[in-house]
Amino acid sequence: MTVMTKPSTADGRAVVAAPSLSPAAQLAKPALLSVEQANAMDVARMTDLFKAHLNPGQLHFMKLLGFHKVKIERAEGMFYTDQNGRRILDFFGGFGSLALGHNHPRILAARKKFQEENRHEIAIAFMSQYAAALAHNLAQISPGDLDMVFLGSSGSEAMEAAIKLGERAAGPKRPKIVYAENSFHGKTRGVLSVTDGQLYRGEFKLIDNTLRIPFGDIEAVENAFRSDPQIGVIVLETIQGGGGIIQAPDGYWQKLRALCDQYGVLWIADEVQCGVGRSGRFYAFEHFGVVPDITAVAKSLGGGKSAMAAMIARHDVYMKAYGTPKTAMIHAAATFGGIGEASITAIETLNVLYDEGLIDNAAVTGDYLLLRLRQLQAKYPKIIKDVRGQGFMVGLEFHDFSQTLPMVLRPVVGVLDDKLKGSLSGFVGALLLRDYDVLVAFTEYNRNVIRLLPPLICQREHVDQFADALDSLLSRGIVAIVKDFVKSQMK
Ligand SMILES: Cc1ncc(COP(=O)(O)O)c(C=O)c1O
Repeated sequence: MTVMTKPSTADGRAVVAAPSLSPAAQLAKPALLSVEQANAMDVARMTDLFKAHLNPGQLHFMKLLGFHKVKIERAEGMFYTDQNGRRILDFFGGFGSLALGHNHPRILAARKKFQEENRHEIAIAFMSQYAAALAHNLAQISPGDLDMVFLGSSGSEAMEAAIKLGERAAGPKRPKIVYAENSFHGKTRGVLSVTDGQLYRGEFKLIDNTLRIPFGDIEAVENAFRSDPQIGVIVLETIQGGGGIIQAPDGYWQKLRALCDQYGVLWIADEVQCGVGRSGRFYAFEHFGVVPDITAVAKSLGGGKSAMAAMIARHDVYMKAYGTPKTAMIHAAATFGGIGEASITAIETLNVLYDEGLIDNAAVTGDYLLLRLRQLQAKYPKIIKDVRGQGFMVGLEFHDFSQTLPMVLRPVVGVLDDKLKGSLSGFVGALLLRDYDVLVAFTEYNRNVIRLLPPLICQREHVDQFADALDSLLSRGIVAIVKDFVKSQMK
């Protein structure tokens, strides 16, 4: 490798060299890998690079689950294909970002056409027809006067925009934000302040104008609003994802809307995970006939191929915050907000969702998934504690087995990571992948819950494949499952 020393004057100041006009003075190319080399990389090399440059600590968890042995070579529809040609059924669904499944042909075609026509990407200097069309589509889909759109690249970014908009629209006299226990709204600093995970919050200095209340407890909302006139905003996931697929009790959202109206508090509905059709309606709040003041979607909006997120606000609320030339640029889109290919991908995604009836499918086939799981709960009442959710956002909670495991086995479990000790979900997830080629997700806060967020293209046959696999695994009994898992860790 060429080592360059920076020339300096006698007093130590750097000398700025005049640019050389010689074509020979080319910067030496670092040892970069090519796309072909990335494609051809084997698991051992991937592991080395992941450890060296991405996240060594995360490898620990991948090893616990056996995920570190897999290299994905292809992904189509409901399935991944690994380096050995094994097809893995995807009930993890990229934490809810794969409504259309992997590499939906219409999404691929739209993107290919966009590239072949040399369309423009960055939407800063000129208006973008793609961002404008996407905003139009989102306004068409959204109920009420939710029609002002901010485009970003991640759920966190859309939620940051939502919270800042709420704060400005509520005004300086009402700066307080209410959020819920077990909430997850992202990890950037603003939304981390309303994300309820000690692990994530750690020692960071967060915004302190917040108030945490239990989720789904309308009296707690009323007490907060009544006792603190500084509250201007309440932010809630319509179905809590990271909390373990938690739904609010009947009547909650209607009462929340009424309380927000009564006390003049703005309601932000975080639909990053439960939105874009996952619950069986485009927005989960639509099940309750109410409209929030601000909402946000991301994940599946990108069609499984692009990073796209949107905040959608009621017209008046938006105009109050950013409606004049003087205020318009306070939180306008960032560099990649509404960029071309991501926008057309999202436009096509929304069209596919309706053309293929995928939201209806989430409702109907989601009910079938719940039915199959409830049958398994009836068959294995000592293992499965609860089955809950809506559409294709389903949680399966296991009993904490650390107390029920035979005494002789308890020391064996002691070799495991703390997080896994009382929790069957890691064991079940690992063995579903190893023995049945099925991938499931876990939840941030409740290690006893398996989270199922399959693509909305999921059919009954896929539900059957998943439920039959789970049935077969659970029929081995807890002791065998635990022993088998622990044995695989010893290898
Ligand atoms: C409800 C909810 N809000 C916000 C986020 C943050 O989204 P992102 O990871 O795209 O920043 C997530 C991510 O899982 C989420 O589930």
